[in-house]
Amino acid sequence: MVQTADIKIKKTSVSRAGSIDFTKVTFGSVFSDHMYIADYLNGEWTDARIVPYGNLPMSPALAALHYGQAIFEGMKAYRAVDNEVYLSRPHDNFRRFNMSADRMCMPLLPEEVFIGGLFNLINLDRNWVPPSMVGYSLYIRPVMFSSDNIIGVRPSATYRFVILTCPVGSYYNKPLRVKIETDYSRAAHGGAGFVKAAGNYGAAMKPTKDAHDAGYDQIIWTDSAQHKYIEEAGTMNLMFVLRNKLITAPLDTKTILPGITRESILTIAGDNKIPAEERMITVDEIIDGAKKGELQEAFGTGTAATIARIKTIGYNGKDYELPPVESGKISKKIYQVLSDIRRRKMKDPYGWMVKV
Ligand SMILES: Cc1ncc(COP(=O)(O)O)c(C=O)c1O
Repeated sequence: MVQTADIKIKKTSVSRAGSIDFTKVTFGSVFSDHMYIADYLNGEWTDARIVPYGNLPMSPALAALHYGQAIFEGMKAYRAVDNEVYLSRPHDNFRRFNMSADRMCMPLLPEEVFIGGLFNLINLDRNWVPPSMVGYSLYIRPVMFSSDNIIGVRPSATYRFVILTCPVGSYYNKPLRVKIETDYSRAAHGGAGFVKAAGNYGAAMKPTKDAHDAGYDQIIWTDSAQHKYIEEAGTMNLMFVLRNKLITAPLDTKTILPGITRESILTIAGDNKIPAEERMITVDEIIDGAKKGELQEAFGTGTAATIARIKTIGYNGKDYELPPVESGKISKKIYQVLSDIRRRKMKDPYGWMVKV
């Protein structure tokens, strides 16, 4: 079993960090100097190591490519105003990763393999965490995939876990136009919609491209049985402010990802006297609210974007315009609190930020 002290480290001879202009990188395109790898062999996690970032050798029979046992996480490290580096809620990502592993019949990761590797990697590549500016951070991508080289539908006996990181700025830099999807579905009852399985994203690409081609930035998924209830967006949970109340879809349908940003926002709302409700939301009430001017705000929430404000909702071939996003007091207030906690501009009353 891997202990934190067992992690072997092979450093790159020359760091690329100094040559990067953090304000100019395209999201997810520039990778830091190192990556962390651990392998699952003979029923245990072994050979945890940090090595220079680079390609991995692969057989064309790699099971993950054929049968889709692949899961991932998305998390961030922030530079605080005092220049220290902090991870945001890393244990929550760790727990969700293992929930995904369980659903996809993959081995769970012990805490020392996931958290131990993560802290060692971020510590080594701390120069890759952008300066303390609103919207900038180091995006962290843990991924696990089945690595047997055998054709045959069954759980793999071997797996590989990798963490790679990339410095990022804002994911969306303009208010979004979104389309309520009433034909395709993302997740059905009993499916894998509540976990971060790679296949969920693969299956969403065609509907999302169709929406892009029609002039929208993102899709709003609805329930697969009736297309009557709002679920979530492509890579974000959704929140609405309807008649001064913050509302978001519940988790118990097990068809949406239990977003960590969603949970942080609900907590902040509760502590700032913003009325909030987790409940089934019908498409009709959102469209009705938009028509009557009672839908004051709509936004996506997620690690990549934090809060992505929505300006237009398309439904059944018609576009509904929301009030100007600048007037969105609730999303503005929550974004400010979340951003100040992450950069340690204000006290973190929840213990979310963990120093590296
Ligand atoms: C489908 C989906 N929903 C919601 C989220 C938001 O989750 P989180 O706030 O944990 O990033 C994500 C991003 O990970 C996602 O991919």
